[in-house]
Amino acid sequence: MRERKGIILAGGSGSRLFPITKGISKQLLPVFDKPMIYYPLTTLMEAGIRDVVVISNIDFLPLFENLLGDGSHFGININYLVQENPDGIAQAFLLAEKFIDGFPSALILGDNLFYGDKLHSQLLKSNSNSERSTIYTYRVKNPERYGVINFDSNFNIDNIEEKPQKPRSSYAITGLYFYDSKVVEKAKTLSPSSRGELEITDLNNLYIKDGLLDIENIGSGSAWFDTGTFESLHEASSYIRTMQNRQSLMIGCPEQVAWNNKWISDEDLYRLALPLTKSGYGNFLIELLN
Ligand code: G1P
Repeated sequence: MRERKGIILAGGSGSRLFPITKGISKQLLPVFDKPMIYYPLTTLMEAGIRDVVVISNIDFLPLFENLLGDGSHFGININYLVQENPDGIAQAFLLAEKFIDGFPSALILGDNLFYGDKLHSQLLKSNSNSERSTIYTYRVKNPERYGVINFDSNFNIDNIEEKPQKPRSSYAITGLYFYDSKVVEKAKTLSPSSRGELEITDLNNLYIKDGLLDIENIGSGSAWFDTGTFESLHEASSYIRTMQNRQSLMIGCPEQVAWNNKWISDEDLYRLALPLTKSGYGNFLIELLN
């Protein structure tokens, strides 16, 4: 199997979080005890993806590089690409064409957080299926804010509608997408929508038309947050804090996933933990070794 490439889209102006994001990238803001981008990065790593590119604008890209480096300390490769204008999520595939290099790929939005028991096996399944493509859905109260699935009378997926005024289902499309090796080719056929963007929803509708798109639903026992507003950012932080304090676990911890996956050794983990003990983050990593 050709190993899937991972893309984290961390662009956008973050204007829904102004003034917080006037001087910093949204995806570097804290979600409780970690920078936001740790969560989507960890999700890709949990899927088994080791070759990752972070796409952001030119001002913020060096900040991501300072934080994540070349990824070798997590046992992965991290590359960086500039998005000059935020021209839509599907533009990521055009920007990353060379990086993708004909491999299957997965895209995750840098402000999306996923957590749940069953998620790990779902991610491994999506990654192992390189012939087909998979998107993730979640039942929400406010589907009009998202891409929404329209089902036919047999409850098969008919198409996806982007931010419909009158949603026909409550199944939102989350910001996690696994594609086969044809995604760049397909993205090249898209035209900008009325809001001037290359829409991920148009790309997904092409896959649906070709009968190549599978859906994984993130069940009610799991959680999905997009953190693009004051409220949702706060909610995500509270959720992470509650879960971590209650169960003595870490959510969105790339060091732990790297170690679980045996991409780094016990000694590597210990070395990563030492400079992080003052905050308590490192202590959790050291406890894993015990
Ligand atoms: C984007 C997509 C939308 C998806 C959402 C998930 O919307 O266009 O289909 O449901 O991400 O976070 P945005 O939040 O960029 O407006």
